[in-house]
Amino acid sequence: MSAFALLALSTTCAAWTIPPQSVYIDQTQYNVLGTNSSLFRASTGYFNPQNLTPPFFQIFDEGFFTILGDSPSIRLITENDSYAFAHEAPVYLPEKNELWFSSNDGGPLGMSDWYTDNKIWKINLDEAEAGNATLYEVPITPPLEMTNGGTLYANGQPLFIQSGRAELPPTLAIVNPSPPYNSTVILDNFYGRQFNSLNDVKIHPVSKAIFFTDVTYGWLNHFRPMPLLPNQVYRLDPISGAVRVVADGFDRCNGIAFSIDGSLAYIADTGASGGFLGNNATETATLYEFDVDPTTQRFLNRRIFAYIDTGVPDGIQLDACGNVYTGTGDGVQIWSAAGVLLGKIFTASTVAEMIFVGNGRMVVLDETKLYLVHFAAQEHSLDYWS
Ligand SMILES: *[C@@H]1O[C@H](CO)[C@@H](O)[C@H](O)[C@H]1NC(C)=O
Ligand SMILES: *[C@@H]1O[C@H](CO)[C@@H](O)[C@H](O)[C@H]1NC(C)=O
Ligand SMILES: *[C@@H]1O[C@H](CO)[C@@H](O)[C@H](O)[C@H]1NC(C)=O
Ligand SMILES: *[C@@H]1O[C@H](CO)[C@@H](O)[C@H](O)[C@H]1NC(C)=O
Ligand SMILES: *[C@@H]1O[C@H](CO)[C@@H](O)[C@H](O)[C@H]1NC(C)=O
Repeated sequence: MSAFALLALSTTCAAWTIPPQSVYIDQTQYNVLGTNSSLFRASTGYFNPQNLTPPFFQIFDEGFFTILGDSPSIRLITENDSYAFAHEAPVYLPEKNELWFSSNDGGPLGMSDWYTDNKIWKINLDEAEAGNATLYEVPITPPLEMTNGGTLYANGQPLFIQSGRAELPPTLAIVNPSPPYNSTVILDNFYGRQFNSLNDVKIHPVSKAIFFTDVTYGWLNHFRPMPLLPNQVYRLDPISGAVRVVADGFDRCNGIAFSIDGSLAYIADTGASGGFLGNNATETATLYEFDVDPTTQRFLNRRIFAYIDTGVPDGIQLDACGNVYTGTGDGVQIWSAAGVLLGKIFTASTVAEMIFVGNGRMVVLDETKLYLVHFAAQEHSLDYWS
C-alpha cells in the first residue's frame, strides 16, 4: 500500500475517498507552522508537507475530487535530462492524435540562441499511451524563428507564435499539419515596428480574433536585440489585418487564455522570473483576470485572479467547467473560476505549459520531461471552427 492511501481524510471531505497518486492537504493544519518549522522556505523550494516523492496530485479543495475522478494517474512518457525539448506551444491535432510542441527558446538547456532556432517536436498519443512516446521533429518550411506559443487555428492548422531571433522579427505563422509542413507568416510587425519577443497566443472564442502577448524575454535571454515596445497584449483581426493593443501595465505578460464564453481573459504576469538573471520574489507571479469588452474587445477591469506560491504562472488552459490550469514552478496549479486553489499536479519542477489531449487526458510539458495525466476533467476544445 502506498503512503498516499494511508492519509486520513479531513472531516470536511469525509464523503470523498482519496484517489490513487493523490494526497489531501488540510490547509488548517498548516496555517500555523510555529518557530523553526522545516516547512518554512524561501520563494524557492516547494510546499510538499507530507514530503512525498513527485509526481502526484495535491488536493487542496473538495472541488479537485471532481477533476481527478476515481482513478487519476500521472506518469512519465519520455525524458531527456540534457535537453529542454518540452517547453511550450502545445497544439493537439485530434484527427492525427498528435501533440506538437516547442523546445525551450534560449536558456541553458534550450539548445537555441542568437544563432540557432529552437525546434518543433511531436508525439503520437497512441505511442504515449503504450508507454513510449517517441519524439519526431517537425521539419517546418520555411523554418520558424524561436516558437514560444501555439494554438489551434482554422482548418485544423496550428498557429504558432515566434519570439524572433537576432534581427529576424517575431511572427505569427500558420503551419500545414501535414507534409510538407509549409508555414505562412501572417504578422511580423506593428505598423513597421518589430515586436520585442512574442510569447503566447489564443483565439477569442466568439470573434475568432487572434490575441497575443509580447514581452522582453528574447532580450533578457540574449537572442533578441534591445526591446523597443512596452510589454503588452495585442489583438489581430485576421480579416481586416488591424492590430491593436488591448492591455498594458504588466511587469512581464506571458500566458493568455479566455473563459469558455469569451467574456473573461486571463493573463499570466511572470515578473518574478527575471529572465534567467535570477528570480526576484518581490515582483509579480500572478494571474490577472479581465472583462473582455463585448464591443471593442479591450481588456477591462483588471483584477488579481491568483498569486502563485511557487515560481511564476506561465501557460494557461481551461477545462470545460471553466477551471483554470497554469504551469508554475512546482507543476500545474488548478484554480476554480472563483479563484480557489483546487489542487496541483505536483512535479516539483518548472512546468511552462500543459494541454488537454482529449477528454480526461492532459500532457504536462516539464522542460526535460513529458508527463501523461489521466483524470476526469473534460477538455475545453480550442477548435472554434468545426
Ligand atoms: C530555533 O532555532 C534557533 C537557532 O537554531 C534556536 O536557538 C531556537 O531554540 C529554536 N527554537 C525552537 C522553538 O526550537
Ligand atoms: C537528448 O537530446 C539531445 C539533443 O537533441 C540528443 O543529442 C540526445 O541524443 C538526447 N538523448 C536522449 C537520451 O534521447
Ligand atoms: C520505443 O519506441 C522506439 C521507437 O519506435 C523503439 O526503438 C523502442 O524499442 C521502444 N521502446 C519500448 C520500451 O517499447
Ligand atoms: C501549404 O502549401 C499549399 C500548397 O501550396 C497551400 O495551398 C497552403 O495554403 C499552404 N499552407 C500553409 C499553412 O502555408
Ligand atoms: C526586485 O524588484 C524590486 C521591484 O522592482 C526592485 O526594487 C528590487 O531592486 C529588485 N531586487 C533585485 C535583487 O533585483
